[in-house]
Amino acid sequence: MSSSREEELIHLFKGIPFTTKSSLELLNSLDAFDAREDDVLLVSYPKSGTHWLARVLTNLYSAQVTLTSPIEFGDISRLEELNQLTSKRLIPTHLDYNMLPPNFKNKKCKMIYISRNPKDTAVSMYHYYRDNPNLPTVDSWTDFFDLFLKGDVVCGSWFDHFLSWEEHANDKNILFLFYEDMKKDLPKIVEKISLFLGLNVSENDIQDICKKSSFSMMKSDTEKEKSDPSNTVCVLTSDKKLIFRKGAVGDWKNHFTPKQNRRFEEIFNEKMKLSKM
Ligand code: A3P
Repeated sequence: MSSSREEELIHLFKGIPFTTKSSLELLNSLDAFDAREDDVLLVSYPKSGTHWLARVLTNLYSAQVTLTSPIEFGDISRLEELNQLTSKRLIPTHLDYNMLPPNFKNKKCKMIYISRNPKDTAVSMYHYYRDNPNLPTVDSWTDFFDLFLKGDVVCGSWFDHFLSWEEHANDKNILFLFYEDMKKDLPKIVEKISLFLGLNVSENDIQDICKKSSFSMMKSDTEKEKSDPSNTVCVLTSDKKLIFRKGAVGDWKNHFTPKQNRRFEEIFNEKMKLSKM
């Protein structure tokens, strides 16, 4: 791919690659963002299950919330649009903790961080890059693997992102979740989220939410165009089919060579040596 096309699609902000769909003017203004105490943030590194969690959350709140697109996407007019919303706001973001508008921290807004095995995240992101014209072209999995480990992909290094949030995992207003736990026992995680948000939901509600949030249901809603177009967690594509690919744990085994796995583990162990998780 030509570097001029790459420049059209990606720019750096504070050393982190963002797509040019996040204007520099908006990124520079985020610090002044006016958070509200009842805002709920849905935080993730890309391809960690953001849409899945968003579906659970919107069903938990039913009609009382507006799910916005990520706070860092768009141009400066986004801030005013968000200001104008009168309902409770459920705001997704891929920002790392240090870049989060300080108002969210000062007002102790509730934040839910979803994480996923970085090997599966890398594979999911590779397919997303490959099939999405709004992202730079990658020639092969081998090339993407190197870019991912270097943090030379949108939103930067998975390790830095995770560590920046993990440092705050015990803050009372932050709930840490794992994609793999949602796959293992979704009702348990839905209950955990509802307790964290102080919502009163019955056993039946939980079953219903889990049904509506299943991979097959979400994928088929997208295919039938039943998904609400205003629920645009990912604004990098209008083709929602790119989001619901396999929805599996362990797909990395179909992509990583033994050598890549060893290299990944080495870097993982080195970068994560201070991690408690
Ligand atoms: P795969 O590419 O591995 O299939 P995000 O929403 O953060 O962009 O993450 C997208 C990933 O979450 C994709 O992973 C997608 O299939 C998976 N996903 C979306 N909805 C899901 C669901 N209901 N259950 C399990 N996985 C889901």
